[in-house]
Amino acid sequence: MRSLIYALATLVPLVVAPAAAQAEPVGEPLTTLRMAAQLRNIPIGASVDENALRDDADYAAVLVREFSVLTPENSMKFDAVHARPFRYSFDAGDKVLAFAEEHRMEVHGHVLVWHEQLPNWLTKAQWTPEKLRTVLREHIYRVVGHYRGRIKAWDVVSEAIDDNGEMRKTFWLEGLGPEYVALAFQWAHEADPNAQLIYNDYGAEGGGRKSDAIFRLMQDLRTRGVPVHGVGLQAHLSVDEVPNPQEVRANMERLQALGLMVYITEMDVSLKLPVTPTKLDEQALVYRDMMNTCLSAPNCKGFTLWGFTDRYSWIPEFFPGRGAALVFDEQMQPKPSYRALIEVLAGH
Ligand code: XIL
Repeated sequence: MRSLIYALATLVPLVVAPAAAQAEPVGEPLTTLRMAAQLRNIPIGASVDENALRDDADYAAVLVREFSVLTPENSMKFDAVHARPFRYSFDAGDKVLAFAEEHRMEVHGHVLVWHEQLPNWLTKAQWTPEKLRTVLREHIYRVVGHYRGRIKAWDVVSEAIDDNGEMRKTFWLEGLGPEYVALAFQWAHEADPNAQLIYNDYGAEGGGRKSDAIFRLMQDLRTRGVPVHGVGLQAHLSVDEVPNPQEVRANMERLQALGLMVYITEMDVSLKLPVTPTKLDEQALVYRDMMNTCLSAPNCKGFTLWGFTDRYSWIPEFFPGRGAALVFDEQMQPKPSYRALIEVLAGH
C-alpha cells in the first residue's frame, strides 16, 4: 500500500497546485527525490556542508526530505579528523552520522587517502617510507575503526591518477611509492571487513586516457586480490563539456566485468554565470542522462550530488565565474535539473 502511494505520488507532476499549496505547508512537494529513488532502489545522496547543517534549518529539512545518503563534505578528511599527530577528533563527523541515523539515512565515508586537505604536520615533515606507512595505517585503522559497522562504504583512495593517465605526483606517491593504493585498501579492509571500499576520481566517467588508466589500476588490484569493491565517478561536470552517455555506460560495463560496483559520488553540473533558462535546461539534460545511465547499469549502486542547493556549493569559490551547479537554487526552489531527476526516476 505504502509503495502504491509512492508510485502514484511519482506520477503526479512535482509542482504544487495553488489550491494544494494553501492546504499543505508551503513548499511541500507531492513527491521527492528520496521517494522516487526508493522506488527504483537507488540510494540518492548529497554531500553535507557541516556548517549549513548546523545553522540553516531549511537546509536540513530539504536534505532529509530529498536524500537517503549523506557524504560529509569536509569533516572526515585527514586535516579534519587528524589535525595533530596522534590526536583524532571525530566530533564533526559524528554529528553528520548522528543526523543521518536519526533520519534513517546512510553515510558515505569520505575520504581516507587524498592529496588535498592534509595537515602541515604531515606534509611539512620528512618521513622514512616505514614511518609514513605507520602513520597512514594508523590513520586508516583509527578512522575506519571509529565508524566500523556504521559507515558501510568508504572512499578509500581519491584522485591517484592524473589527467594524463599517470600516477599523480602526490605526497603519498612520493612518500610511499605506487603501492600506497593497494596498502590503503588492505588496511581499510582490515579495519572494517564488511565495508565497501571505493576508488574515487573525477574526469573518468566516460572513455579516455584517464578512465583507461583507472580501469587498468582496478584490473591490477582485482587480479592481485586487493579488496577494492567499487569505483566512484565523481561527475563534476559542466554544461559546456558533457561526457557521452554511451561511453559512460561502456565504462560502467567494463568495471562490472572486473566485479566492481560504480557510484556517482559527487555530481554537479556547473555553468558559466549568469544563469539563463536555456542553460538550466541544458543542465537538466546532463543530470537526466547521468541518472538514466546509472539506472540502466546493474552495477551502479548510488547517485550522490556534491551539495544540493546553489546556496552552498564549492563551485563559485573554486571556479570563479561559474556556479548554479546543483538541483535547488539559492532560494531552495527546485530547478529544471531537479524535475529531470524526478522524471527519470519515475520512468518518464
Ligand atoms: C571540496 C569541498 O566541497 C570544499 O568545501 C573544500 O574546501 C575542498 O574540497 N573532489 C572531492 C571533494 O573529492 O572532497 C572536494 O570537496 C571537491 C572535489
